Amino acid sequence: MIAELKVRGWTPPEGTALDWGCGTGVAGLRVAQAWPEAVQFLRVSDRSNPAQRFAAKKATSTGIAVQSAATAGDAAPNLLVISHVLNELTPDALENLLALAERAEAVLWVEPGTFTVSRQLVAVRERLKERFRVIAPCTHRQACGLASPGSERHWCHHFAKIPGFVHTDPGWGRFSRTLKVDLSTLPMSFLVLDRRPAALAAPEQSSEARILGEPRYYKGFSKILSCQADGVSELILQKRDVSELLKAMKKDPGSLYRWERDGEKIRSGERIF
Ligand SMILES: C[S@@+](CC[C@H](N)C(=O)[O-])C[C@H]1O[C@@H](n2cnc3c(N)ncnc32)[C@H](O)[C@@H]1O
Repeated sequence: MIAELKVRGWTPPEGTALDWGCGTGVAGLRVAQAWPEAVQFLRVSDRSNPAQRFAAKKATSTGIAVQSAATAGDAAPNLLVISHVLNELTPDALENLLALAERAEAVLWVEPGTFTVSRQLVAVRERLKERFRVIAPCTHRQACGLASPGSERHWCHHFAKIPGFVHTDPGWGRFSRTLKVDLSTLPMSFLVLDRRPAALAAPEQSSEARILGEPRYYKGFSKILSCQADGVSELILQKRDVSELLKAMKKDPGSLYRWERDGEKIRSGERIF
């Protein structure tokens, strides 16, 4: 998600970032490290005091300026960072979190790419989309295409790149074997919102499309579930039309494209990320 935002030239608002439900604080830390010029202070908060203390200490030890809860009071952060919390929240806790999100200038929200949680995140998007510009994963401001009849079995998930060292590190190997966690793929869902005037006023990038899940390859063609302003549709890439594009997708599947289409058929495609 961070890599895509960087490629697209998006930067968080300057000021304070709050990692809400921080756990070890890894999400806030990554964001602060990715945009040091924007994140001037990092706040961490968690219902677990030991987790909050750990996250604050860890961030401080890497040279990040951590703002204490006492200093912050109930001021809304400029950037709200939320990672892997949705399935732990009671309805009341979620309401409180959404109220906080509404007061932030921008929100970076990452969740696992499971059907249930990604659908919950879509519901969050529908709640907040009037107030914010949806920067990602959506390429449009319309209602989510997954709410349309026929899309019930689909969900908005994507695949994060796993750092190479994870595959060679014995500790990660042990972790994977012991907990039976597949480290070859990392499904995630995410939501990036921005309500700064420039974001709200920016023209719609309606020609862009997001691939949901992964392309499915068959002999001579491939099918993708593509989300764009006109909804979610299953599109076909035929080898005879777009052999180079198909080859590139197989080698390194992208997530965000600009298609030239003839109905359900893709005539050409330009990868954006
Ligand atoms: C799965 S962990 C994720 C931690 C971290 N954000 C990450 O991505 O590694 C969920 C965290 O949310 C915190 N949490 C759950 N409900 C909360 C609430 N109502 N208020 C604050 N923190 C909460 C938990 O204590 C836990 O640290």
